[in-house]
Order: sequence, then C-alpha cells, then structure tokens
Amino acid sequence: MPDEMWSEKYRPVHLYQIIGNEKAKLTFITWLKHWKPGSKSVLLYGPPGTGKTTLVQVASNEFGYKLIEMNASDVRTKTAIMSTAGPIARESSLYVTLYKGAGSILFLDEVDGIFGREDRGGIGGLLKIIDETNVPIILAANDPWKPKLRLLRRSCEMIRFYYVRPSKIIALLKRICQEEGVEAEAKAFAFLAEKSRGDVRSAINDLQSVIGEKVLKVQDVKRLGMRDRKIDVQEALTGIFFAKNVKEAIQSFNNSRIDYEMMLHTIHDNLPLQYSDPIVLASAYNAISRADIFFGRIARTQNWSLLKYAIEQMTAGISTIKKEKTSPVHYRFPPSKIMMLGRTKSERNLRRGICERVGLKCHVSRKAANTDFLPFLKVIFNNDTDLASEISSWLTLDDEMIGYLEDIGRNN
Ligand SMILES: Nc1ncnc2c1ncn2[C@@H]1O[C@H](COP(=O)(O)OP(=O)(O)OP(=O)(O)O)[C@@H](O)[C@H]1O
Ligand SMILES: [Mg+2]
Repeated sequence: MPDEMWSEKYRPVHLYQIIGNEKAKLTFITWLKHWKPGSKSVLLYGPPGTGKTTLVQVASNEFGYKLIEMNASDVRTKTAIMSTAGPIARESSLYVTLYKGAGSILFLDEVDGIFGREDRGGIGGLLKIIDETNVPIILAANDPWKPKLRLLRRSCEMIRFYYVRPSKIIALLKRICQEEGVEAEAKAFAFLAEKSRGDVRSAINDLQSVIGEKVLKVQDVKRLGMRDRKIDVQEALTGIFFAKNVKEAIQSFNNSRIDYEMMLHTIHDNLPLQYSDPIVLASAYNAISRADIFFGRIARTQNWSLLKYAIEQMTAGISTIKKEKTSPVHYRFPPSKIMMLGRTKSERNLRRGICERVGLKCHVSRKAANTDFLPFLKVIFNNDTDLASEISSWLTLDDEMIGYLEDIGRNN
C-alpha cells in the first residue's frame, strides 16, 4: 500500500478529532440533528484547511447519512444541476424507511467557484432545489461574500469557520509525530503552527515536508519555503521522482525554473517513461489529478492561497508513493499538451487563411466558408488531384494550406 500525504492520512474520522471551531461544529451538528424537510440549508464558509469538508464527512458518517458530494464542475448549468442534484433532493421518505439509514445528504463544495455570469441558470436551479429539497443540503465556500452568492446566502444558515489557534495545531502536530515515530525539537512545532496561520492542512503538509529521516529540526522549519539555486528540467524531475522525502520533492520544484502549470504537464507526460508498475502509475496520476483539482479551484475562485496545496500534491504526492526501483531517464520536455496547443494554434491560422480566401472568391462569410465549403474541399483534395490544383491556384493557396486540406481529409 503506497504511503500517502499526512493531511489525508490524518483526516479526522471522529468529531472529537476535529480541532478548533467549537461553535461552528456545535451549530452544524445541532442543525443536522434537527433537520427536517422545510428547514434551511447551511453554508459553511471560511479559510481553507480549517475543517469544513472534514466536518461534513465525519458528521454524515456518524449520523448514518449517505454523503453525496459534488463540486463546481458538476453543476454549472441549470440542466446540469437539475439532472444531478435534483433526483437526490427529491428522495422520498419512503426510500429512507425502506433502506433504513438516515438517507442522503447533498454536499456542494466550492460554491464560490461555481457561478460566473454565464452560469446564472445554475444558481437559479440550486435555489429551486434548496427550496424544495427532501434531504439536508450543505454548501461550502471560502468566500461567500461575492455578490453573485447573495440569494444563496439568504436561503441558508451561515456557519462561519475561523483560523485554528496555534496551541491546537501544535498539539495535533505533536500527536502526528508520535504516531510516525519522529523525534522532534520542541520549538519546531511553534514555528510550524505560526507559519500555517491557522490553516491545519497547511501545517500538516509543512510538517511532512520538513521531516527528513524521522527527525524534525527547528533549522529546517526556518528554511521552509526558501528558494535555493536554479536547476534545469532534468534535475528538477529527477528531484521529484527520486526524492527521499517530501521536503526534497517540494524543494526540487521550488528550485526549478518552470512554472507550476508547465510542471504539472511535464510530470504528467513523463510518468509513464519513469514508472511501469500500473499501481504506481495509478497512484501518481491520482496525485496529479488532485493537484489539478486545486488548480481548477484557483482558476475559478482566484484563491491563490490554494496554490501551495496544488504544488504539494504534484510533487510530494508523487514522492510519497512507494515505487519500484528505477533510475532517472531522459525526460521529455516541453510537454505534449503545450506542443499540441502550439500546433492547434497554427492549424487554426491555416484554416482561417483558407476560409478567408474562399470567402473573397465566393463572396461568403468566413464562417460560411468554414461550414459549407471546407468539407467539400477536403473531399476534393483527397480524390481529385487535377481539380485540387486548379482550385489551389484559383484561391491562391500556399503549400502549407494545401497540405492542411489533404491532411484533414485523410484524418477525418
Ligand atoms: N479542524 C481540523 N482538525 C483536524 N484536522 C484538520 C482540521 N482542518 C483541516 N484539517 C486537516 O486538513 C485537511 C483538509 O481539511 P478540510 O478538507 O476539511 O479543509 P476545508 O476547510 O474543507 O478546506 P477548503 O476550504 O480548502 O476546502 C484534512 O484532511 C485534515 O488533515
Ligand atoms: Mg473543503
């Protein structure tokens, strides 16, 4: 069984293990206990890494609910939300009686990232579901004060999460070190707690990242996040794939010249060159998909404090997997997705050029040239060389354009 990141390994499974935010916990549990159709839904909000998602997971488990989690991408449009969340919210009490348990809970995470201007329908759909639901609905967000969430705020009981106090974080970090058999310098905990600024996930990730060979030292904590010399792609990937610990993995990324998005694609592309064991590959792809989820959240919510989580997932997430013995290979760079974007960009330019010429000669719009003429040109350029060359000179197509028409005809 591969190792995992400690923030997952030590995710609380009982309510008493969730530290801090006592008032929020109590309010939430009281709400859940007394929930009946017609009650308000709740919106849990506050800074990242303070236990919102964990509380929902643990509480629904302890109360016997079946938790159905959704996030931003599941519910962007009214149709999407109606077809995914609608049936769950309409679950009848007969179903609950038949299947014993307490029924389902619908949990919609990251609502601050869901609704852009184009998603108005989605929010309307959600409000309708909240209004008519037969099951408890829980929403969560980092920033619930965005104007677009106004109506949602009104239809929910708001439960606020705060940063967790250092003393509580210190106690948790100590417990983790004990369970991991790590020998620690006592002062290191206070530094870690202070640096995390009340974000528990970040404190645990930092802890894991500074521990080398089962020891935790103050000097390592102090150096956390500092950048060293710059290294190239080959060295950075070797550093990530062969890191002895989490610390080395994150540092290899920090020291590289590549930005995080490019690094994600680069790691993605090079995994199958480095590993052959399907279980190792699956775990590694899992780690980078979790990083990708954080990148998605950042893009939607502009919450840049999540960046460190993404980076940790794609570097430390890979270094913690137990792998077969291999040695560094020659890594591929730049990543194929970036090359593909470059290629499709030049393809787009070629297509545009052809359509412009067709438009000029045939007196149609570029759009009409694309939909009504291009398909025929493709057929002609692959079947009738004489006609194709006549058309080419009439339209003054250059060699690249001719090649493009022949290629797309062949491939499609
Ligand atoms: N209050 C807490 N008590 C114990 N562990 C916590 C707490 N908050 C966070 N953690 C740790 O951090 C990890 C992430 O927590 P969680 O997913 O609940 O945060 P969140 O508040 O939902 O963050 P986000 O706003 O980013 O979704 C957990 O797996 C757990 O290890
Ligand atoms: Mg969460």
